[in-house]
Amino acid sequence: MPTRRDFLLSACGIAALGLTPALLANEAMAADGITRKPNGQVVVTLDKVPALARVGGSVNLGTVKGKPVAIVRTGTSTYRALSLACPHQGVTVARSGSNWRCPAHGSMFTADGTFVAGPAEGPLSTVPAKLSGKTLTVG
Ligand code: FES
Repeated sequence: MPTRRDFLLSACGIAALGLTPALLANEAMAADGITRKPNGQVVVTLDKVPALARVGGSVNLGTVKGKPVAIVRTGTSTYRALSLACPHQGVTVARSGSNWRCPAHGSMFTADGTFVAGPAEGPLSTVPAKLSGKTLTVG
C-alpha cells in the first residue's frame, strides 16, 4: 500500500519531469476512451464513455482546435459536437440539469444546443465531427 511519502515522491517526480496539468488531463482522457491526435482532433470511443450511454448525456472534451467542445448524444445512434462558446459574448457554457447555461448572463440552451433564452440570440454552434462505427472524430 502506497504511503503518504510514496505519494509525495511521485508528485515531485511528475513536477521534475515538467508534466503539465494539461498533459495529465490528456492521459486521463485516454483512459476514458477519449484521445487527442497530434493534429488537434479528438477521437471518442463512444461505448467507453459512460456519460454517453443515454440520450441527452454529454461529455466535455476540453478545447478542440482552440474551442471549448462537448459531445452530446442526441439519439440512439446520433451524436453532436457542440461548441460551448456562448453565442452572446463567448463565455463557456456549462451543464445545468438537462440544459446548458451560460454563467455570464444566463443564456440557456437545450442539451443539443437549441436556443432557449437570451440574451444570446441563437443556438450553440456545431463543430465538425465524423462518426465511423463506434468512434467519433471531432475537429
Ligand atoms: S456571454 Fe453568454 S449570455 Fe452573455
